[in-house]
Amino acid sequence: MCGIFGYVNFLVPKTRGEIINTLREGLQRQEYRGYDSAGLAIDGDHEDEVLIYRQVGKVKELRKLIDEQKNLNLDAVFNAHAGIAHTRWATHGEPATRNCHPQVSDPKHQFSIVHNGIITNYKELKQFLSSKGRTFTSDTDTECIAQLFKYLYDENTKAGAHLDFSQLAKLVLRELEGAYGLLVKSVHYPAEVVASRKGSPLLIGVKTDKKLKVDFVDVEFQDTSMDVNGLMGPPTGDSLRHSQSRAFLSEDGPIPTEFFIASDPAAVVEHTRKVLFLEDDDIAHVCDGELHIHRATHTTGESTIRQIQTLEMELAQIMKGKFEHFMLKEIYEQPDSIFNTMRGRVDFENFTINLGGLRSSLTTIRRCRRIIMIACGTSYHSCMATRQIFEELTEIPISVELASDFLDRKSPVFRDDVCVFVSQSGETADSMLALQYCNERGALTVGIVNSVGSSISRMTHCGVHINAGPEIGVASTKAYTSQYVALVMMALSLSDDRISKKERRKEIIMGLSRLSKQIEEVLALNDKIHEMCDTILADQKSLLLLGRGFQHATALEGALKIKEISYMHSEGVLAGELKHGVLALVDDKLPIIVLATRDSLFPKVMSSVQQVVARSGNPIIICNEGDANKFDPKYQTIEIPSTVDCLQGVLNVIPLQLMSYWLALRKGVDVDFPRNLAKSVTVE
Ligand code: F6R
Repeated sequence: MCGIFGYVNFLVPKTRGEIINTLREGLQRQEYRGYDSAGLAIDGDHEDEVLIYRQVGKVKELRKLIDEQKNLNLDAVFNAHAGIAHTRWATHGEPATRNCHPQVSDPKHQFSIVHNGIITNYKELKQFLSSKGRTFTSDTDTECIAQLFKYLYDENTKAGAHLDFSQLAKLVLRELEGAYGLLVKSVHYPAEVVASRKGSPLLIGVKTDKKLKVDFVDVEFQDTSMDVNGLMGPPTGDSLRHSQSRAFLSEDGPIPTEFFIASDPAAVVEHTRKVLFLEDDDIAHVCDGELHIHRATHTTGESTIRQIQTLEMELAQIMKGKFEHFMLKEIYEQPDSIFNTMRGRVDFENFTINLGGLRSSLTTIRRCRRIIMIACGTSYHSCMATRQIFEELTEIPISVELASDFLDRKSPVFRDDVCVFVSQSGETADSMLALQYCNERGALTVGIVNSVGSSISRMTHCGVHINAGPEIGVASTKAYTSQYVALVMMALSLSDDRISKKERRKEIIMGLSRLSKQIEEVLALNDKIHEMCDTILADQKSLLLLGRGFQHATALEGALKIKEISYMHSEGVLAGELKHGVLALVDDKLPIIVLATRDSLFPKVMSSVQQVVARSGNPIIICNEGDANKFDPKYQTIEIPSTVDCLQGVLNVIPLQLMSYWLALRKGVDVDFPRNLAKSVTVE
């Protein structure tokens, strides 16, 4: 839920001002992950001095705080330095300065730490450390980690054991339960950083002008006999041997190097494209221009190589460009983003689909007993939107599950099930836990993910990247339409051995070929929608959205967009359920948006419109082009181009995305950072 960033320079002289700027920019790029407070730790002017700046509010508030520090020498030069920073979305402890990160071990800041995740056994740790005389100054779970570092450092030093930073980290990490991505800095290990992850994303970018000797890191399994008997005793004799793992080095020894450690590649790409994604339980140790990776625990058969990958992402892709907000930019990117989802995968002449990431698993999927789609929020809606076409084309039973509920129920999963995980970030904790659950039960797991290198894309057996490009706005827009298209492509691919579906498949593929152009036509309705928000919808307290069949998901997704961005209560309702209770809400004031585009259920939706009108309701009708005259002219209509029934939701959702944007703007909401939400929900 939080964004963490670290910057380490070695033999690349940097002023303190430059270091602070690099850290602040790294946070700014990850602010969507959490933005209720921010902080950073850098070296002071004296040896053993670490300066901590923390502020409630967004990164710009932290910037202000640092700018106000009149005694801070920004021109001081550091040949080697390690800085860590954090932007927070509160889980333990209200947003307050004492709860901001970096959290520290003691008033002298011997260990400072930034953390993303939740330590579930923090109460036990706190109790133990308190019994050893430690006092706590925050309400966070993270402070326990900082204190534990200091406690174990002190105990080992007293016992005459001189641990290096990664050895110490290993002792600390094995006491932690829960999820973490963390960075640690210490006065005892100047210009070094230890980074580790378990369930929360973390990657390391490497920048150097020289050629690296290796473009991978060979992971080292430390001697498991290295022990301080849990938290209680000194280490045992020579068990602290520590062999050298292979790391970045030139042929001629240490070279000038910079390391950028972040939760999200978007924070690193402007500095370097060479990155290494850490795996769960990796302990990365950056020291003297080298990166070594050790394992907190060792499982037989796991990979011991971490490859350096080259990021394809362009910086321009993550900048706002001419748009005032990322959300609006991302809404307007949809003609391109859905095209990128299809690029190189759809042959519009021969009506075939080629999804490389699924090729080797297609036969297994076709033979499965059922497909379970599992996701959260907007990603769940994209599953809802495509379930019907999946069922129709594949004739395999499909169920759609909210990840948290699926786990709460401990729903039965079997070896011949296929579980499809849909996620923009690929890091959503609920989805990841459900994925782990399905993997443990032997099901084939498939990822439909936007973020390349994310946990879900790595933990699934096969999958499809939706290639929508980085999505920064907290409200998901282009990821939804790309997930939708990717899922339709998957259904088409699974059914390409069925002669009986040939014509239907052809019709859908032709629909896909026109989709980008049609999205542009819908975007051209922006002014009309803006005006509607300023006139009819302004100052309303509540909103209902009605849809059925393919459009039920559109109603749910539209309602979610409106509530999360404009804070207006809005509810997506299955039109067939109207008469079973919801009708009681209808009067001449409540705005009701009806999704009445043409498909086999159109007559039934028309009857819902009648039911609303008969109760003095004033529907706003989203219909197909040329259908506006089917409704009484006193009702507002939004005319949308027609496409194949199963793709119509891609077009119909766009006016609702725009509506949420304009309603939010009217209210003065910070559209890209709505209150209480974060882009990537990495906690349960
Ligand atoms: C809503 C929104 C959330 C996410 C949900 C799942 O606009 O963004 O509902 O869709 O938190 O996130 P991912 O897709 O990253 O798993």
